[in-house]
Amino acid sequence: MKKRQLVFATHNKHKVEEVKSILGNAYEVLSLTDIDCHEDIVEDGDSFEANAAIKAKYVFDKYGLSCFAEDSGLVVPSLNGEPGIYSARYAGKHGDHEANIDKLLSNLENKEDRKAYFQSTIALISEKEVQIFEGQCHGTISESRLGSGGFGYDPVFVPVGYDNSFGELGSAIKNEISHRGKSMEKFIEFLKSN
Ligand code: IMP
Repeated sequence: MKKRQLVFATHNKHKVEEVKSILGNAYEVLSLTDIDCHEDIVEDGDSFEANAAIKAKYVFDKYGLSCFAEDSGLVVPSLNGEPGIYSARYAGKHGDHEANIDKLLSNLENKEDRKAYFQSTIALISEKEVQIFEGQCHGTISESRLGSGGFGYDPVFVPVGYDNSFGELGSAIKNEISHRGKSMEKFIEFLKSN
């Protein structure tokens, strides 16, 4: 049977790998690189939802392809929601995960409340209609890095119910309980029923 193709509007290789492993074999996931789109899409929305929709709409308008995009980030209530939609460039440079973690740990140095959650918001666009799917994963920020697996803030995020960080837990456990695992679950349910 021919696999159904889905364009995922991202350049982030880690996200593509996670999404492919969550979606399984029924779908062929094409990244922006796969469809020859090498531009950096400007994410200037003021929410995860707005940014996910901007990325999906960009591909739909330019390439005429149905597509989904995901915007995600880490929210720390005791830091007034930082880094939030600025998670990828918290310390200034886009994708500098080490500097982002350093800044987060330094901002939390004197805070007792180290609770945090990851948010994942998926926007699917087809024939001008946008559907939104969301997932969250709650946990705490450790005092220092634990493990080196995953990406982004994974080494300092300890999910509720575990003593290890996402950087230590491995992709199978992460995908089962993560924000992206949950938003993808809703997304897959929708794909199946349509
Ligand atoms: P986006 O590509 O604009 O959605 O930015 C997402 C940013 O949020 C990443 O660069 C990471 O800093 C952070 N982030 C999102 N999901 C995860 C995750 O699963 N683990 C660790 N960091 C994440």
